[in-house]
Amino acid sequence: MRRRTLLITGASTGIGAATARAAVARGWNVGLFARSAEKLAALADELGDAALAVPGDVTREADIAQAADRVAGHFDRLDAVFANAGMGLDTPGTEAGDPEEWRRMLDVNIMGVLLTTRAALPHLRETQGHLVLTGSAAGRRHIPGSIYGSSKWFVHGYAGNMAEEMAEWGGRCTVIAPGMVDTPFFDAPKPDKLQAEDVADAVLYALEADPRAAVREVFLMPRN
Ligand SMILES: NC(=O)c1ccc[n+]([C@@H]2O[C@H](COP(=O)([O-])OP(=O)(O)OC[C@H]3O[C@@H](n4cnc5c(N)ncnc54)[C@H](OP(=O)(O)O)[C@@H]3O)[C@@H](O)[C@H]2O)c1
Repeated sequence: MRRRTLLITGASTGIGAATARAAVARGWNVGLFARSAEKLAALADELGDAALAVPGDVTREADIAQAADRVAGHFDRLDAVFANAGMGLDTPGTEAGDPEEWRRMLDVNIMGVLLTTRAALPHLRETQGHLVLTGSAAGRRHIPGSIYGSSKWFVHGYAGNMAEEMAEWGGRCTVIAPGMVDTPFFDAPKPDKLQAEDVADAVLYALEADPRAAVREVFLMPRN
């Protein structure tokens, strides 16, 4: 069977890197996008011919647009895009927080998702492809005062709207909503929480569902 191709943003660490490994193990080609060129090159080396590193910043429209075109050209088509790049805030709270830090976070978590989707759509329309967005448990239930969580409420709302739009031409859109995952997102290890591989499994479940099934959301929490 023809290998399918997945472009992943935020592929240098955590959930994105784990999804790249899981996808290649299941026979996909992957395009790896993030700012850390060295980490992407190391991961691409590890994954071999099935991976292409395309470094860039998700808040810069030209970076993500060129990356999508390059990955689609290199592997001949683009079947799926995982808009996963995101960041949290060092200082939480509306009164205590830093508006400049909010701006940087909103640029990545909201504008980054919009620019990735804009770059992806022409390619996905050709393949009746699949868009997967990383939301969060923090984007489906309220957490006192969380501004980061509010950025993920945007992602959940947008994912539902894109699922409706993409259904018009046979495409699919899924939001993945993990609770706490043990990744470099946190300074301290979280060994008893979800592992990045658990989230990667959820992404592959949605991507590989029978074409008649549109998995709109996968919500996964650590058991305890
Ligand atoms: N960990 C959790 O508990 C948890 C729970 C729910 C949802 N999430 C979400 O899951 C996603 C992945 O996070 P993670 O837990 O895997 O954390 P992570 O290891 O910190 O990964 C974040 C990724 O985003 C990339 N990134 C950040 N800013 C970027 C930019 N401007 N342009 C391109 N790439 C950028 C980072 O790469 P570079 O620094 O190399 O650019 C990195 O690859 C995020 O959307 C996060 O909000 C995490």
